[in-house]
Amino acid sequence: FTFLVTYLLHFTQSASNNTFGFTHSYMDSKALQERQRQQMARGLPKQKPITGVKQVIVVASGKGGVGKSTTADLYSMNFFSLSQSKSVGLLDADVFGPSIPKLMNLKGNPELSDNNRMIPLTNYGVPCMSMGFLVEDVAPIVWRGLMVMSAIEKLLRQVDWGSLDYLVVDMPPGTGDVQLSITQNIPIAGAVIVSTPQDIALLDARRGAEMFKKVNVPVLGLVQNMSVFQCPKCNHQTHIFGSDGARQLADTLGVTFLGDIPLHINIRETSDRGQPVVVSSPDSPEAAAYRKVASAVVQRLQQVSS
Ligand SMILES: Nc1ncnc2c1ncn2[C@@H]1O[C@H](COP(=O)(O)OP(=O)(O)OP(=O)(O)O)[C@@H](O)[C@H]1O
Ligand SMILES: [Mg+2]
Repeated sequence: FTFLVTYLLHFTQSASNNTFGFTHSYMDSKALQERQRQQMARGLPKQKPITGVKQVIVVASGKGGVGKSTTADLYSMNFFSLSQSKSVGLLDADVFGPSIPKLMNLKGNPELSDNNRMIPLTNYGVPCMSMGFLVEDVAPIVWRGLMVMSAIEKLLRQVDWGSLDYLVVDMPPGTGDVQLSITQNIPIAGAVIVSTPQDIALLDARRGAEMFKKVNVPVLGLVQNMSVFQCPKCNHQTHIFGSDGARQLADTLGVTFLGDIPLHINIRETSDRGQPVVVSSPDSPEAAAYRKVASAVVQRLQQVSS
């Protein structure tokens, strides 16, 4: 009997402990969530426009090496030529692997303006800023998170763009700190996502698109890069990375399909030479493909800004 009473007492006690424990931790987690929400609201940097810049467009992907920089670069120049009356700048936000200096054939250190801000370097009518102008070509950039953030802060705030209608930002690959910090610090008019039609790139492109949706940046659409290779000898077409993956992803996500860019040696060679295809062979079908994408982006920008 004593055993039974002890057992019952123990049982009721632990049951009530459990109930109490559960209620307690439930309340705790509610309070914790509320506290976190308040802290996040307080902690989020207030979005501040870049001085002199009317609209910012980011070019992102998720996966690396799918053609963001090439697209951002050619897009800026097309944008420039499509709307001569508008001024366009190009910001390379890839602090670890800046590509814009090579793509735009630019070198050297930016000078400082009277108010101590960096003056962008200009080629083909497009002012550009890149970490590549500030560090040696071959110097490894081995930075911890805080240094990267401070570099991004400098690129966002300490450049004298003068007056720009559009600033195109070439994002680094991924959906990490840099991407988040840029989207939280400046108002962004829209994001262009670049992907090859290959499953492994599309997965990351989808993550990229979802990230922008989450932080309330309008996704202007998806560009499908390297979708078809046409043999220069026999004109046979091969879909090396697949043919329609990005178009299908655009459908699935309910975002606009902005166009197809073929895989073409002319694009690679002219980019490597710093003489982008829209400048060096403006009449080529490759240049026309970039122009088509650029006008689709302009159209989408007007839609989301109105
Ligand atoms: N449509 C294309 N046809 C041929 N070559 C291309 C095409 N698009 C991009 N490339 C080449 O592919 C390589 C990668 O392109 P790019 O640097 O633009 O990619 P990225 O997404 O910016 O890469 P990262 O993630 O490293 O920044 C470059 O050498 C570029 O010249
Ligand atoms: Mg790049």
